[in-house]
Amino acid sequence: MKTLVVYFSLTGNTRKVGELIAEKLGADVEEIKLVKAMSGMNDPRIFTSFLGCFLGKLPKIKPLEHNLGEYDLVVVGGQVWCFSLSTPLKAFFKKNSEKLQEKAAFFLTHGGMRGRAAINTMTKSSGKTPIATLILKEEDVKSGDYEKKTEEFTEKISELA
Ligand SMILES: Cc1cc2nc3c(=O)[nH]c(=O)nc-3n(C[C@H](O)[C@H](O)[C@H](O)COP(=O)(O)O)c2cc1C
Repeated sequence: MKTLVVYFSLTGNTRKVGELIAEKLGADVEEIKLVKAMSGMNDPRIFTSFLGCFLGKLPKIKPLEHNLGEYDLVVVGGQVWCFSLSTPLKAFFKKNSEKLQEKAAFFLTHGGMRGRAAINTMTKSSGKTPIATLILKEEDVKSGDYEKKTEEFTEKISELA
C-alpha cells in the first residue's frame, strides 16, 4: 500500500500531527505550500489568513511534488478557519480531488469549534468517504495528548487500508 500524507499548516499544529502520521505509517509526506505566504493570528502584520477566509477567497497553492495518482491511500490534513475548512485546504481539493485514488483518510486540528463540520467539507470536496478521521484540538497538540490519538488513527488506517 503506497501512502502519501499531505497537509497544510500555518502555525505548526497540523504539521506536528502530519509528520507523526507519516512516521507511523512509513508514508511519503508533503506540505501544501502557498504561492504567496500568509500571516497568522499571532502575527503583528495584517492577518491575511483571517482576511482571506472571512472574504471566502481561495489562495493559490503550489503544485505538489508528489503525484497523487500514484498513491493507493492519501491522508489529507488541515485545520478550521472562520468556522469552516481552511481556504488552503479548499484550494487543495479544488485542484486535486480528481487525482485522488480509491482510498483517503482525513485529519484536522482546530481551536475548539466546527471540527466535525470541516471534516464533512473534506468528504464532500474530495468525493471520498474517508476510511478514518482524526479531529484534534490545538491544546491536545500543544500538551502532547495528540500522540496517543494519532497512534490510534494510524492503527485504524493500517487495519483498513
Ligand atoms: C485565520 C484563522 C481562523 C481560525 N478560525 C478558527 C475557527 O473558526 N474555529 C476554531 O476552532 N479554530 C480556528 N482557528 C484556529 C486553528 O484552527 C488552529 O489553531 C489550528 O490548529 C491551526 O493549525 P496550524 O497550526 O496547522 O496552522 C483559526 C486560525 C486562524 C489562523
